[in-house]
Amino acid sequence: MILCGHRIKYKQILLIGFIVCISLCILTLYFFLFPTRHFQPYLDVEDVQLLLRAAEANGVSVVLFDPLILHAWSSNEEVVKSGSCLFLCHVVGPLLFSITEKDLKNKGHFLSMLAQQGFTVTQFYADDKESHIFLRRYGPGLVISILYWSNAGYWRQYQLTGPPHHMAMVKQFITHETWGVLNMDRAYERFETNEAVIDEFKLTAPSNIEDFDEDYKNAKFIPCNETQATYFYTKYKEQDNPEVKRFQHLAWKTLAKSKTVLDKIGIPFWLSSGTLLGFFRQCNIIPWAVDVDLGIFIDDYSSEVIPSFEAAGMKLVHKFGQLDDSFELSFKESDIKVDLFFFYTEGGIMWNGGTQVKTGKKFKYVFPRFTLCWTEFLGLKVRIPCQTLDYIEANYGKNWFIPVKNWDWKSSPPNVQENGEWNENERDKVIVLVNEKSQND
Ligand SMILES: *[C@@H]1O[C@H](CO)[C@@H](O)[C@H](O)[C@H]1NC(C)=O
Repeated sequence: MILCGHRIKYKQILLIGFIVCISLCILTLYFFLFPTRHFQPYLDVEDVQLLLRAAEANGVSVVLFDPLILHAWSSNEEVVKSGSCLFLCHVVGPLLFSITEKDLKNKGHFLSMLAQQGFTVTQFYADDKESHIFLRRYGPGLVISILYWSNAGYWRQYQLTGPPHHMAMVKQFITHETWGVLNMDRAYERFETNEAVIDEFKLTAPSNIEDFDEDYKNAKFIPCNETQATYFYTKYKEQDNPEVKRFQHLAWKTLAKSKTVLDKIGIPFWLSSGTLLGFFRQCNIIPWAVDVDLGIFIDDYSSEVIPSFEAAGMKLVHKFGQLDDSFELSFKESDIKVDLFFFYTEGGIMWNGGTQVKTGKKFKYVFPRFTLCWTEFLGLKVRIPCQTLDYIEANYGKNWFIPVKNWDWKSSPPNVQENGEWNENERDKVIVLVNEKSQND
């Protein structure tokens, strides 16, 4: 009996083993025969072909908007002619394209044609704006970003967001880098496009890829927080008399003109101090602010700055400090001053300087390190520190939301430090007043 029982168990084990073995063989064979049906890490170039055909058939202008591929292609143009698939066949993660708002009118036919050809089509919306279209067959697929033209003269791209199941799906295929790019609002300069032949595909691509690359890298956009502005105006009734309006208009003109001047000579600047506070808190110019404040990294300074402002009719009124320490320029037109504060980077901090005319004392305003983002302020595309709140809190403290009219630039900011004083014998070089009667106190 005992022997027999053993034999039965032995047979059972053999049978189970056999079944397991057969199942594994079938599975292996299945994956071997149909690997692409399950997962393909690289882009299927046929996706591109299908996209281009559907776009052409439906009057949709798709532009290749993928910085990695554009960069690789443009810096290897000599090997492009060889005919093999060098670029598009090695794309990991979805390939990026763009269309513009006006293409949306042909979207219906375009997308149904793609769906018929086997694409799963997923549309993403940020609030009421369609932001992206994700197209996928077997590989990582294609992402089309929708660009909206702003009256302030730039292309706006909205963040890739959507319901959790859509996001989970898209995150499965997207690379970390691409996610880092699409997970934010973005702004791009106007750009020209050209026909480009990449791996024998005729595509439309930005003409100047170097400019495109540069613009693409620094495209993060932070819109003004209108909710916060509304709350501010509800809580602190704004003065709304003609004099305030007139000041705000003149200050806006000064800002717009400064932007034109600095853009023309290619110097990046950002809204700083009171101008940044006005943007951040109330999406407007603070009525009792006396001037427009801009920040510029000292490394971006050029000797063209002063002549360019003067050529635009803005007279230099003071120049404090020297290039390697506490440099500051101020220009004036129709009673409105624009202050250019130059920023220095030192380890974990960034700082700009201040100089008191009557004593020659120096001050230092210290900020945690920041990077620059785009925003639209009163119809102008301008930069702000991306870490806006940190910058504001460094400069104005935790109570920045409460309006303060008596602000002393030497003692009120929490981030001000005394920084010694200029030597008597160098003062006439580092404190230069031009046509300025009243001195800073
Ligand atoms: C806008 O401001 C409100 C009020 O301060 C705040 O609750 C909200 O998080 C802000 N929105 C964004 C996108 O920062």
